[in-house]
Amino acid sequence: MSRYQQEFQHATQTPETFWAEQAKRIPWFTPPTTILSYDDQQHARWFGDGEMNISHAALDYHVEQGRGEQPAIYWDSPVTQKKATITYSEMRDRVAYFAGGLQALGVEKGDRVVIYMPMIPEALVAMFACARLGAIHSVVFGGFAPHELAVRIEDAQPKVVVAASCGVEVNKVLPYKPIIDQAIELSDHKPDACVVYQREEHLAELGEGDHDWAALVEKAPYAECVPVKGTDPLYVLYTSGTTGKPKGVVRDTAGYAVALAYSMDVIYDVEPGDVFFSASDVGWVVGHSYIVYAPLLRGCTTVVYEGKPVKTPDAGAFWRLIEEYKVKSFFTAPTAFRAIKKEDPDAKLLEQYDISSLKNLYLAGERLDPPTFHWLDDLLDVPVIDHWWQTETGWPIAANLPGLEPMPTKAGSATVPVPGFDVQILDRDGEQAQAMEQGSVVIKQPMPPGSLVGVWGDPQRFHSAYMAAFPGYYLTGDGGYFDEDGYLFIMGRTDDVINVAGHRLSTGEMEEVVGAHPAVAECAVIGIHDELKGQLPVGLVIPKDGFDGDEATLEKELIARVRDQIGPIACFKQVLVVNRLPKTRSGKILRKLLRNIADGKEFGVPSTIDDPTSLEDVHGAMRDRSVGASDKATPV
Ligand code: COA
Ligand code: AMP
Repeated sequence: MSRYQQEFQHATQTPETFWAEQAKRIPWFTPPTTILSYDDQQHARWFGDGEMNISHAALDYHVEQGRGEQPAIYWDSPVTQKKATITYSEMRDRVAYFAGGLQALGVEKGDRVVIYMPMIPEALVAMFACARLGAIHSVVFGGFAPHELAVRIEDAQPKVVVAASCGVEVNKVLPYKPIIDQAIELSDHKPDACVVYQREEHLAELGEGDHDWAALVEKAPYAECVPVKGTDPLYVLYTSGTTGKPKGVVRDTAGYAVALAYSMDVIYDVEPGDVFFSASDVGWVVGHSYIVYAPLLRGCTTVVYEGKPVKTPDAGAFWRLIEEYKVKSFFTAPTAFRAIKKEDPDAKLLEQYDISSLKNLYLAGERLDPPTFHWLDDLLDVPVIDHWWQTETGWPIAANLPGLEPMPTKAGSATVPVPGFDVQILDRDGEQAQAMEQGSVVIKQPMPPGSLVGVWGDPQRFHSAYMAAFPGYYLTGDGGYFDEDGYLFIMGRTDDVINVAGHRLSTGEMEEVVGAHPAVAECAVIGIHDELKGQLPVGLVIPKDGFDGDEATLEKELIARVRDQIGPIACFKQVLVVNRLPKTRSGKILRKLLRNIADGKEFGVPSTIDDPTSLEDVHGAMRDRSVGASDKATPV
């Protein structure tokens, strides 16, 4: 049996002994005696009676171990032309004083703090400061509009909001304070205070209840780490589900820390002192896990990059960063490399840089499409590793594991299930699928440490969204199959979640926004294939009877609505007014059929369709407006 197989079997057959062993990877105040327990609904809970603090494990502990002078963070911001290096001891102190400031504002263990910040070191300081106090942070991605921020504030009910005065995108400065003020106005819940980190690029005007970060820290006492139980929540991170309301994924503390520490060894193959660069954003799960917590838990240096793969200043940005900081493991989304490939197809810019420090390249956030895999594989001398995971799992479910046993890669596959994740494929009836047979990808309970422990404030939704479909299994929402060698292929979502430039979005949520327009009778938003961003949303809209306005104006208004209410990252830029939508006789819109047409595939006319001519109508409208590859779609 291979090393991987042994480890996988150990983790699957005797999870308690396996994870008790892995728990030794992190420093505890009180080591756990109970490794695995179950809540009322039979969901796994890990390390319940252990006590620790992740801020201690990731910062203070390393200083105690003599890493105080090692850089914890390299901050690199081409959009502001600034850079900074922060050592472990500086980081610990910044975190401890900011935590003291939060304490002075009344933040205590269990309180929520919403963080709305761009890719600056202070975002990490704020997250670790919350963790230090046992407070629960909820970071909201800066590309979300006030309405989305308001939904999260209302749900998480934070005592304090921590923000920066602005974000900086390519050639534009985005003031954050007006977004926060508007969000708080929209929300029924009003936080007690808002702390603003003032950036030179734009100073925010502070009003009543607002506190300047620097002034707060100046007066703050040094806060020590508050011991928390293994199962105490560390954060709530909202992610798109199938309905309009995002789900607040709740992550515990110790299970997460243990899982991340394990992954840094077996998946990411890094040692203390190595440099780890994840080009994501702190607002996403990849940012939480692999910009903030995992690299520092492992004693690595993390690169915090406020820039883009292209245009800041060019498609050589990532190569420059790898050379400059001697990055050993690099992680980004396939869409970023598609953008680089578009601008620099022969990778001429790579010739200017020495990237010999790089040992492995990791991609996730969406499927690594075979053309991008081959482009990278031909270009680089290092393994190109597609690995699959979700906000809910917090760390990879399937990956190649170079730190345990490197395996040959296969284009289009995320390789094999990571020890701890008993991945299975079930058909519609809940029966095990054969090799090569596509079905629902599920994970047999118990879920390993690090996986979500609930949906904030809604235990019922946790159960109904993830656990109810196939009792005894967690439903990932992805479809896929195993090949004959046991390699896992993830082929896309089976629900209404789409993936735009590595960002997870809900078409259901966009439909709610579009459908709320007074002139709209009915609508469908579908995700269609896009060469660069993977998918893009397209709206199909039936106006109300008697609508006599201008269709082009309505389309523009709907685009503006989604941008204003969800945010620019939704990339909702195409709407079509149509007369009818194809539906089943029971009234369900045939979304998959619409997607197939837009993607230029062959499509059959289902026997359940109510009115086959509606399909011809929509296909014609899509062709006229050049939606996707609809001109290539043919009925069979
Ligand atoms: N704050 C505010 N606005 C933001 C933002 C942020 N943090 N991030 C993106 N936006 C805005 C952009 O400015 C843009 O606005 P515009 O419509 O006014 O131009 C819009 O949202 C869409 O942005 P984006 O999806 O980034 O498109 P792009 O064309 O500017 O860039 C890529 C394309 C592929 C380079 C970019 O999407 C990218 O780097 N993707 C990688 C994403 C990633 O790493 N995801 C991690 C998941 S693991
Ligand atoms: P998020 O929760 O934003 O990380 O998005 C998770 C979803 O992104 C998954 O359910 C998948 O649909 C998709 N995804 C992420 N990584 C991969 C991958 N390596 N291969 C295929 N799909 C992926």
